[in-house]
Amino acid sequence: MANTIELQESESEKVEVKIGDKTIKLPVHTGTYQEKGIDISKLRAQSGYITLDVGFKNTGSTQSTITFIDGEQGILQHRGYPIEELAGKASFEEVIYLLLHDDLPNEAQLSELKARLEQYARPEAGVRDILNALPDDTHPMGMMCVLLSSLSGFYPHLMDSWSDQAKREEAMYRLLGQMPALVAYIYRRKAGLPYIDPRPELGYVANFLNMMFGEAKEEIVEALDTLLILHADHEQNCSASTVRFVGSSHVNLFAAISAGNAALWGPLHGGANQKVLEMLEAIKADGGDTSKYIAKAKDKSDPFRLMGFGHRVYKNYAPRAKVIKKYTDKVLDMLNMDDPILDIAKGLEQAALQDEYFVARKLFPNVDFYSGIIYRALGIPVEMFTVMFALGRLPGWIAQWQEMRQNGEPIGRPRQIYTGHSTRKYVPLNER
Ligand code: CMC
Repeated sequence: MANTIELQESESEKVEVKIGDKTIKLPVHTGTYQEKGIDISKLRAQSGYITLDVGFKNTGSTQSTITFIDGEQGILQHRGYPIEELAGKASFEEVIYLLLHDDLPNEAQLSELKARLEQYARPEAGVRDILNALPDDTHPMGMMCVLLSSLSGFYPHLMDSWSDQAKREEAMYRLLGQMPALVAYIYRRKAGLPYIDPRPELGYVANFLNMMFGEAKEEIVEALDTLLILHADHEQNCSASTVRFVGSSHVNLFAAISAGNAALWGPLHGGANQKVLEMLEAIKADGGDTSKYIAKAKDKSDPFRLMGFGHRVYKNYAPRAKVIKKYTDKVLDMLNMDDPILDIAKGLEQAALQDEYFVARKLFPNVDFYSGIIYRALGIPVEMFTVMFALGRLPGWIAQWQEMRQNGEPIGRPRQIYTGHSTRKYVPLNER
């Protein structure tokens, strides 16, 4: 007889699962906005069953206080602050503080944070040697993976930062402090330009722009500040989950962050921003006919996807995309620029939003759809886009790592359902 599994809400904070004739009570955890998660950690011990959810489509990996997303309504908040409140009002440094400390800083706290970021803004001299040794055509994200991993070599005294608060903080602020220089060095290395030394007293974003371009115009500092805030955290996405997962083995922070950076590189995640611009350029070169590309994206025999569209969590217009779209117009106006790619992007978006395929699947533009147009207007090459994403996301990764450690989360180790051969006997090579 087939087993029946009935899920039934019982008294508060428990659900009953009926498997065959056995009833198991499972605890329920309720979030700030009444979202509910059934705790199945003891299910196998009690019933012999595990749950199977490839790609974690419906599985919570943690309880977190950092970021809240309501994908159906298109809401994004960090520590209770809606993204629309932070973007354009707060500085990136304030958001770094907010993510790490659960509150916006007062003036003294912000000065202290800035002082620590300044203290650690200069990478070790060997970083430039490592970059110089890499082949010219190494992708900037490949360079970033190498540099982030190399930090464990530069700071061996921080390897056991797991259990030592002073070391943990030094590792966190060394990462945050020198990240702008790492990104700028990669850009200069790729462009064949001489490196520009950090001038951290200029401020986090101005120093970064100065190391990139030898100048930092006020309006560009402002635009980039906002763009970085829009990328600062996004709860349990692929790279943040990777940082938490790798970090749960108690490896050093540099290694965990480097793993997260590698996850970000993929075109389904942060790498989409590069792919969006390449796609828009291809459409332009192909005569600008967006309907042809909409048809390709819908064709299941064609691997092409509309890059910058769709999201695992958002089933509504993504709030970050909304802010970025407005910002794209503003930045282009401010720079007195006219980018024909923007018209193609807007046309593509409009066509997709009216198309039954995209409507039925609730596919909307995501953060990567417009961000590349801004990066490009700021003079940042397409290949560098995902590295820019990493610069913005670093505080989120660190906050997620810190929370995982503070929660005392066990090592990440999923189970599986084995579907391979059953037991076989070894056959010697000459008999096969
Ligand atoms: N173009 C065409 N069809 C799509 C797209 C797209 N961009 N995205 C999803 N679909 C279809 C997909 O084929 C599937 O159709 P069906 O139900 O007929 O099989 C349905 O929509 C659901 O898609 P899914 O792949 O099961 O959804 P997912 O949650 O596993 O994937 C995603 C989410 C973001 C990986 C996916 O939407 C995608 O590949 N988008 C393009 C890449 C992209 O823009 N990534 C950036 C994400 S936001 C930045 C960040 O990572 O933080």
